[in-house]
Amino acid sequence: MAENKTLRSTQWFGRRDKNGYMYRTWMKNQGTPADMFDGRPVIGICNTWSDLTPCNGHFRELAEWVKRGVYEAGGFPLEFPVLSTGESQMRPTAMLFRNLAAMDVEESIRANPLDGIVLLMGCDKTTPSLLMGAASCDLPTIGLSGGPMLTGRYKGKELGSGTGIWQMTEEMRAGRMSYEEFTATESCMHRSKGHCMTMGTASTMASMVEALGMSLTGCAAIPAVDARRNTYAQLTGRRIVQMVKEDLVMSKILTRGAFENAIRTNAAIGGSTNAVIHLLAIAGRMGVELDLADWDRIGSEISCIVDMQPSGRHLMEDFYYAGGLPAVMKELHDAGLLDTGALTVSGETIGEAVKDAECWNRDVIFPYDKPFKPASGIAVLKGNLAPNGAVIKPSAASPHLLVHRGRAVVFSSIEDFRARINDEALDIDETCIMVLQNCGPKGYPGMAEVGNMPLPPKVLRKGITDMVRISDARMSGTAYGTVVLHTAPEAAAGGPLAVVRDGDIISLDVPNRTLTLEITDAELATRLKDWTAPPLPERGYVRLYVEHVMGADKGADLDFLVGKSGTPVLRDSH
Ligand code: FES
Repeated sequence: MAENKTLRSTQWFGRRDKNGYMYRTWMKNQGTPADMFDGRPVIGICNTWSDLTPCNGHFRELAEWVKRGVYEAGGFPLEFPVLSTGESQMRPTAMLFRNLAAMDVEESIRANPLDGIVLLMGCDKTTPSLLMGAASCDLPTIGLSGGPMLTGRYKGKELGSGTGIWQMTEEMRAGRMSYEEFTATESCMHRSKGHCMTMGTASTMASMVEALGMSLTGCAAIPAVDARRNTYAQLTGRRIVQMVKEDLVMSKILTRGAFENAIRTNAAIGGSTNAVIHLLAIAGRMGVELDLADWDRIGSEISCIVDMQPSGRHLMEDFYYAGGLPAVMKELHDAGLLDTGALTVSGETIGEAVKDAECWNRDVIFPYDKPFKPASGIAVLKGNLAPNGAVIKPSAASPHLLVHRGRAVVFSSIEDFRARINDEALDIDETCIMVLQNCGPKGYPGMAEVGNMPLPPKVLRKGITDMVRISDARMSGTAYGTVVLHTAPEAAAGGPLAVVRDGDIISLDVPNRTLTLEITDAELATRLKDWTAPPLPERGYVRLYVEHVMGADKGADLDFLVGKSGTPVLRDSH
């Protein structure tokens, strides 16, 4: 057996002693031939397949294509499961478990005889959790997204994941759509394998993986059922074996320049606000300096050049046929807005990877000098209501509400909101500002996607479709509206949001990046002095989470998980 001291796995499979025997013999119960233990790179395929995560339901098949590529390149693939966080099913919110899944990924990698990692990612939180966990290990690692679903269609009209639900729900609440017709669209919206096909969080994060250089270029937009998704899986398997030989570890790719490229790309695609939290958390694991203000400084003046739901009209299939993310990054490249020297997993720079990309449909991907929505990257607001910041996605907001002053109507929880919003006696009109408290990381707990509160029926009946809404919650990447999110510190951590009262006047000024509660400093201090913290959950992971989760402005990671520990070979107990 050839010993290769440079590979971690050799310290399991390459040993010429009793323990080496033990490590190999149990693996042979699967029929593994002896030459798989000859010092070749061992590749872990980190799989988030689960029947409870329908967006990742095809991942066992996808993993087989990765294995094919690994074998072809002379590696030994070993697939392993990690906690799969299905966005559509998990309560109270999949985000509560992102950090738990990241711990699972990190410890699974470190504990096992692995030299390189392929991350199979799709549904929203399965992407950041895998990147976070793998970043703390810093092995050669490559991302493979599962691809978006085909375009939803109902009665000849396109139906986008999530976005279509928000729109139809408002139609139903306004009395313009029946419940029967609403449910008739269920099997039309999600009709193939894959993740949400709007530019929601899953498509955004797949795009972020590609923009960061963490996947093969061109990977993000390929529909899940397109044969080229399997081709990319196979090529990913081939490539990771070479990455191990080149010692191309994650920290060589996830540089400050890579994150800046991702922030600009997020603006250009009209990406989800959730990317803010996830990229901050990934950077924190990697030890890259990145803060909330960077999002505004680097991304807010970048124009959105992709006309996709929820900011626009099209869906991921159209995006892929138009050229996908390489065509977007080519526009940024030509506009001088890319760090072209940032390395990708392929070994070439991002500049080399996208410089020859072509756009095939200018209805979907616009030229950078004739954008879909100019200067519309995520804006970061500050003020006495959000001392540590809050975010808004101007591309999904109503332009006439970006500067607005109004009377606060306050809901202390999402349950309080649901109990009162349909009450015709609720003292609210379209000029008011809806305020939702206690939905942040500690407060919900888990920071639910409830920031895009539905409007009161009496406002909807007037034909009004947007109002200013402020919360410490997140918003689904498929949602839209003039919605201020991630207000920090959150209410449950004693942030000023906790002490807003009905009738307070709030002013929002997105061009000047301010969010102001119009009360005196003395009044605010008095109210905060009287505030009491909610009780901690009694036990279990949720207790650990609430005690240690950081604010949204820090990526909502657990404080003791920030940074990386690499992959020291741990003691063995045999
Ligand atoms: Fe899985 Fe949207 S529910 S990506």
